[in-house]
Amino acid sequence: MQLPRPMRGGLRKAACFVICALTLYVVLQAIFSTAQDKSSRMISTQDKYVATRDNKVYEYNRQMPLIFIGGVPRSGTTLMRAMLDAHPDVRCGQETRVIPRLLQLRFHWLKSEKESMRLEQAGITQEVLNSAIAAFTMEIIAKHGEPAPRLCNKDPLLIKMGSYVIDLFPNAKFIFMVRDGRATAHSIITRKVTITGFDLSSYRQCLKKWNSAVEAMNNQCREMGKTKCLRVPYEQLVLHPKEWMEKVLKFLDIPWNDSVLHHEDFINNGISLSKVERSSDQVIKPVNLEALTKWVGNIPEDVIRDMAEIAPMLSVLGYDPYANPPNYGKPDDQVAQKTKDIQKNKTIWDRKAKEMFSLGWDNGADRETDKDPSDNPNLT
Ligand code: A3P
Repeated sequence: MQLPRPMRGGLRKAACFVICALTLYVVLQAIFSTAQDKSSRMISTQDKYVATRDNKVYEYNRQMPLIFIGGVPRSGTTLMRAMLDAHPDVRCGQETRVIPRLLQLRFHWLKSEKESMRLEQAGITQEVLNSAIAAFTMEIIAKHGEPAPRLCNKDPLLIKMGSYVIDLFPNAKFIFMVRDGRATAHSIITRKVTITGFDLSSYRQCLKKWNSAVEAMNNQCREMGKTKCLRVPYEQLVLHPKEWMEKVLKFLDIPWNDSVLHHEDFINNGISLSKVERSSDQVIKPVNLEALTKWVGNIPEDVIRDMAEIAPMLSVLGYDPYANPPNYGKPDDQVAQKTKDIQKNKTIWDRKAKEMFSLGWDNGADRETDKDPSDNPNLT
């Protein structure tokens, strides 16, 4: 039976409509599922895993509560990381050096308007850059040592970019090691620790440099806020290790464990040390008071006289710029005893250090690429 023409036209339109609707549905489905596919692939590449030798698997991702230890070099950063490394739940490890360098590179790219524009035009948005930098940082931190429930990084100068690090890892926290700048300058000069920007022949210049570096770090710490950044004065840590490690572990939400008070027992058995880091031979010893006031009597008179103007951050951080020596406080009995034992057994400790770090240091000036990365106090 033939339908009347107007009805046939209507049927054709309806069929057309159904076909179009179906096609649209199929296309949308395809687009939607590809998007879902992509996002799930992105999620799966963000969660990564590392396994211990006994097959314990740990996941790592940008949400993990990383621990960062920062401060001007020679402020007790290695001691802090060794004490945390002694905790069974934590692994810090040696300085990676490459992480602050990468972050510094990003800083330079973004400082140049032209380069920023070129990157944007190439599709390398802030988001793309951030996820790439976070992935690199995570890989290095997770894989340069043993897996652990809490991973930690000690690249001292990274704290100059602390706020950015918190943007990358929103659950991370910083331990900011602070030390009397006079002691830090004395340590840098006498141990010939080459850090870009520090002139090893001048206390005045080193103290100025310490001042600008510590000011930048302190500003970052303030910007991160009290829940994200904890200042730990080196002097108080060595005078009262139990009190301060309790504070540190509480701040990091890590249960108390006595092992943090005798890190020396875990050297090479849970704590890996680099043969070429400048603090390795000091950190093998128990917490002691040897380095507290070594600087006293060694800084030129004119620098001592101008101390408050050269290093105003001393007062900001609670150090008296005119006290020589300052009264840092009375040590806990155990620390005083351990210090006496170390002094009594000096030759044994010296031999131990020599045996462990046979590579040694030549005490000569490093080439540019050998220096500690970054000293630009304005890095944020
Ligand atoms: P000195 O060079 O004045 O001796 P960093 O690791 O940040 O570079 O800091 C190095 C300083 O930490 C050194 O200062 C070193 O003596 C001190 N330090 C390392 N291990 C220590 C320990 N077991 N007890 C006390 N201080 C320690």
